[in-house]
This record gives sequence, structure tokens and C-alpha cells, in this order.
Amino acid sequence: MATSFEMAPALRAIFPQDMTQQKKKLMAMLGTAVNGLNNLEAIIPAVQASGVRHVDYKVTPSMYDTVGAALLKTLEQGLGNAWNDEVKEAWTVTYTILAKVMTDAAAEHIKNTQ
Ligand code: HEM
Repeated sequence: MATSFEMAPALRAIFPQDMTQQKKKLMAMLGTAVNGLNNLEAIIPAVQASGVRHVDYKVTPSMYDTVGAALLKTLEQGLGNAWNDEVKEAWTVTYTILAKVMTDAAAEHIKNTQ
């Protein structure tokens, strides 16, 4: 997460001071996504609900691009030799799908509550 704040310091403002819980939640969701890769449909309702909650966290669609780029950079640095085109492709596809499901659900929620 340090990387996304380097890339966009303004993002830091919307997170709580103590990031312990946030890090646990993000890792839990990423773990769920990776475990559910072969059965992504199963976690779609939970991902949609989280996308709607992100509206309350003041997360805008463009922030998903920033966080996605930071996540890939962090994985590349952390995985070292285990990082290759196939791993990059898998994470890019996974993140892109999650972000799309979350932002679509958020847009639908905003439309319905206006
Ligand atoms: C695919 C992308 C993302 C995933 C899978 C994800 C996942 C999660 C999860 C599981 C939570 C726990 C609470 C909940 O579900 O409502 C959470 C909270 C949060 N996320 Fe995300 N998130 C994503 C993108 C983003 C982006 C782009 C931002 C903006 C910088 C962001 C900011 C936050 C904030 C501020 C919280 C609440 C922190 C707290 O109060 O503890 N997230 N996220």
C-alpha cells in the first residue's frame, strides 16, 4: 500500500490513521479473489456490495486505476523471480474484473439513490 500513496498522496487522506485493519481487509479480499479465481461468479455479490460501500469511503472510479497500477508494481517488486508475463496477466485480469464489478455496482447504486 505504501506504493499507492507514493503514486497518489491524496489517496492517503481517505484512509483511517491506523491502517492495520485496512491492510487485513485488503489481503482478505485479495485472498478470496485468488482462491475464487476458478469460480469468480461465487464472490460477485460480495464484490458488488463492497463496491457500493466504497462510495461511502469517497472512492471514485479513477482511484481504481491508481490502486491497480500500485498493486501490480508492489507484486512485481515482492515476487522477484516468481514474477512473469503469465502472473502479470492473471493479476491484471483479476484486478480489472474486480474493479469493473465494483465500479459498475457503485454507479448503479448512485443512479438509484439520486
Ligand atoms: C478491486 C479493488 C478493490 C478491492 C478488492 C477492495 C477491497 C476492500 C475491502 C474488502 C474493504 C473492506 C470493507 C468493505 O468491503 O466495505 C475495503 C475498504 C476500503 N477500501 Fe478498498 N478495495 C478496492 C479498491 C479500493 C480503492 C481504489 C480505494 C481508493 C483509494 C479503496 C479504499 C478503501 C477504503 C478507504 C476502505 C475503508 C477503510 C476502513 O475504513 O477501514 N479501495 N476495500
